[in-house]
Amino acid sequence: MVRQRVDVAAARDLAEALLTDLPQRWAHTAGVAARAVELCAALGPAMSPADRDRVVAAAWLHDIGYADPVRDTGFHPLDGARFLRGAGWAARINALVAHHSGACYVAEVRGLHHELAEFPRELSLVADALTYADQTVGPDGTRVDVRTRMTEMLSRHGATSDNARVHHLRAPDILATAARVEHHLHLATA
Ligand SMILES: [Fe+2]
Repeated sequence: MVRQRVDVAAARDLAEALLTDLPQRWAHTAGVAARAVELCAALGPAMSPADRDRVVAAAWLHDIGYADPVRDTGFHPLDGARFLRGAGWAARINALVAHHSGACYVAEVRGLHHELAEFPRELSLVADALTYADQTVGPDGTRVDVRTRMTEMLSRHGATSDNARVHHLRAPDILATAARVEHHLHLATA
């Protein structure tokens, strides 16, 4: 029987076990999880306790696809989501991991859009909060703004990378996501 669980502590433990050999990725992951906790608290009633757990668990798990035991296609959102599905994680967590930070655009250029479609893309504040947390924490775990993060990502991946090829589609999507989250943050503090 498939377990349908959203266990934040288990998500953290799994991420730590898988990413120990990738210290910078682990630092980034811990930073994104901390950012997610802070963000969900700041969103107040806009985020239910169950959804807070979903965002934070997905934040811990979003980059496990980079770990050697998880890597399969080499596209980390898809590899992470498939690994979690196989381990019996909740379908929404798997799908959040699959689609974090505009993964659908990169999947298209890599010819993996059919594979990514195994997981439905959730359009919600939960999904937005995960992407916002990821896009406001740099590779070393430090806080950055969304535009700085995207500029750094492009220089890290290179001008001919898959990320660069879809940047004209992905960047506006991520900026729109950030605007929605910041609107909710504004409402929560108004
Ligand atoms: Fe990330």
